[in-house]
Amino acid sequence: MSAVTDTHAVGHTGNPGQEAARRRTFAVISHPDAGKSTLTEALALHARVISEAGAVHGKAGRRGVVSDWLDMERTRGISITSAALQFSYDDCVINLLDTPGHADFSEDTYRVLSAVDSAVMLLDAAKGLEPQTLKLFDVCRHRGIPVITFINKWDRPGREALELCDEISERIGLRPMPLTWPVGESGHFHGVLDRESGDFVGYERTDAGAHLAAERRLDAEQAAAEVGAEWQQATEESELLSASGGDLDEAAFHAATATPVLFGSAVRNFGVGQLLDLLVRLAPQPGPRPDAGGTPRELEAPFSAFVFKVQTGMDPAHRDRVAFARVCSGEFERGMVATHAATGKPFATKYAQQVFGQQRDTVETAYPGDVVGLVNASALGVGDTLYNGKPAVEFPGIPSFAPEHFAVARTTDPGRSKQFRRGIEQLSQEGVVQVLHSETRGEGAPVLAAVGPMQFDVATQRLESEFRSPIELERLPYHVVRLLGDPRQRSMLRTRTSEVFDRPDGSVLAVFTDNLALRTTLRLHPELDLHHVVAATEH
Ligand code: G4P
Repeated sequence: MSAVTDTHAVGHTGNPGQEAARRRTFAVISHPDAGKSTLTEALALHARVISEAGAVHGKAGRRGVVSDWLDMERTRGISITSAALQFSYDDCVINLLDTPGHADFSEDTYRVLSAVDSAVMLLDAAKGLEPQTLKLFDVCRHRGIPVITFINKWDRPGREALELCDEISERIGLRPMPLTWPVGESGHFHGVLDRESGDFVGYERTDAGAHLAAERRLDAEQAAAEVGAEWQQATEESELLSASGGDLDEAAFHAATATPVLFGSAVRNFGVGQLLDLLVRLAPQPGPRPDAGGTPRELEAPFSAFVFKVQTGMDPAHRDRVAFARVCSGEFERGMVATHAATGKPFATKYAQQVFGQQRDTVETAYPGDVVGLVNASALGVGDTLYNGKPAVEFPGIPSFAPEHFAVARTTDPGRSKQFRRGIEQLSQEGVVQVLHSETRGEGAPVLAAVGPMQFDVATQRLESEFRSPIELERLPYHVVRLLGDPRQRSMLRTRTSEVFDRPDGSVLAVFTDNLALRTTLRLHPELDLHHVVAATEH
């Protein structure tokens, strides 16, 4: 069975406004090992996209899409990421966009968040908020993306529910609004109290999440008789939550100041149906997207989309290039000729695809919130707009995110320095890596900056194969970065533990080996005008 459904299969009205109302486009933000692959698989299973869990996750001998990709990644040394999983649930079309998170954590991971309307923050019940989750949450915060929290792995010992809720409110300032509350502590849990209906939803041990479990509901009286003291405790805690502002407030969720919380177990398939119901009921649908001038593009306007990810080398047989675009308005029809806003040139969409893992299905139509993969897209870069008809539209570009890895690039073949320069420029334009300039290091030694080190491998490989310009990279020891508000202060930052780089847009980055170096420099020069590099405020 296909891992991706065509919108035809789930029925469509052909009206972009009505189709948008049925769309829920989201991504999972989490730290590696929290259970993102398992949850993706369980969501797809609930939606019956795949008949048996395993088509996405692929561990322990199950048929794997993601694992195949990781093999390719290993052998080919390039960043392989999937794009979007589409499935129907109730009368909705759900688009789950992938956020690569292990070794392939990169700027792409952040960029995906420019293409979603909401996010599911997946936490491991034993670990709570972890570093990668916090970084991704920061991007959600700056974009104002509403976040649903799913506390996973409740089937095994972990932290207390109240403690996890406190951590959410204290560390990231989101007010937790648990929709369910665990009955029995993690590891010994009987089920959850559905705080809205007052029912008990029983947890049944199923066969490693491979099959869909039926939900067992009891009313409060039955639950008190069956579960006893732990049910009593859960109802009391739930009342305390109500008294302290823990009840559902939809407006606060949409304003991204509060987060609905669910407890569950992705691997045991518990709480996953509740998550889907919540997405359908509460998560925002695609809305009119503001263009670069701030005017919202109405959903019913002719087709428009923006590219949030460009990927090369997905198909080992061809040196292809796929641009992933999120539809913002109108109807996309395969074969339509759209205009590339940056150049004004026509772009033919004959080979539009939906891609998830290795599975590629031709997409015929798509609506606001959907993702299309455009093949042979050599003209398209990250942030580019495509549109059809009139009026013309250009969406704001996707900003650069705070890099954490830096390396000086030098060509090892002086005879090919022209190709080297051209290649570096191309990679910068495509957003493969950020390219910075150092006054002290000079023209021939651009500094590459990346969110994840895998981006360097991709850059090196592409310079060598496409531009025949072999390079050597000298890794620099910087990991902390700030924007320097006043470029005249750059001389204060030429120390053993800091340096200054110029970005193509004219802004100046101050980089430090670590937080200690940053603090020491600030003690010496308290007048330094340093700011956090965050996507939204830079834009
Ligand atoms: P990731 O994509 O976020 O990195 O996580 P992934 O789904 O690969 O899950 C990481 C590990 O956590 C896996 O175990 C997975 O089975 C386990 N896991 C996910 N959800 C749950 C849950 O709800 N409860 C429990 N107890 N475990 C969960 P693994 O040993 O690395 O792999 P596997 O061989 O079990 O598949």
